[in-house]
Amino acid sequence: MIPITLTVNGERVTRHVEPRRHLIDFLRLDLGLTGSHAGCEHGVCGACTVRVDGEIVRGCLVLAASLDGAEVTTIEGLSDSGEVADLQAEFVARNAAQCGFCTPGMVMTAADILRHHPQASRAEIREHLSGNYCRCTGYQAIVDAVEATLAQRRQEAGR
Ligand code: FES
Ligand code: FES
Repeated sequence: MIPITLTVNGERVTRHVEPRRHLIDFLRLDLGLTGSHAGCEHGVCGACTVRVDGEIVRGCLVLAASLDGAEVTTIEGLSDSGEVADLQAEFVARNAAQCGFCTPGMVMTAADILRHHPQASRAEIREHLSGNYCRCTGYQAIVDAVEATLAQRRQEAGR
C-alpha cells in the first residue's frame, strides 16, 4: 500500500492505496464520490473525466498512487462551486441529459471548454467533446447547451 495525501474538492485527503488502484475507483469506492462514472475503463468513453491540477484527465487511466500532492476536482466539487451552474441550466432546459450516464464526464469536459476556449466555434465544441461518448442524446442538445452557455458568457463579458 502506498500512502498519498491529496486535495479532493477542496478537502485534504490521506489514504493508503494499492499501487494499481485507478483514480476512478479511488474516488468512487474509497471516497464514495460516485458522480464520476466508470464506463469502458479503457480510456475510450470519457465517463470518468475529472480535473487534476486544472486539467481534465480520464480517471480510469490515472493511478491514484501517482497523485500525491495533487488537486482533484470531481463533478461533485465542480457542481458545488457554482462554476457551471449556467451550463447545467442549459443542459436541463435542452434535455441534454437522458439516462445521465455520460453527463458528469460531459459536463467536466464542457467546463474545460468554457474555461480555456471561450471563443470556441460549434465545430470546435464538437471536436472538444468528441472523446466523451453519449448513447442517448445524439449530441445535438449537448452541443447546443455548450454553445448557448459560451454565447451567454461572451455577451455578459462584452466580447
Ligand atoms: S471509463 Fe474512463 S474513458 Fe471510459
Ligand atoms: S445521456 Fe445517456 S449516455 Fe448520454
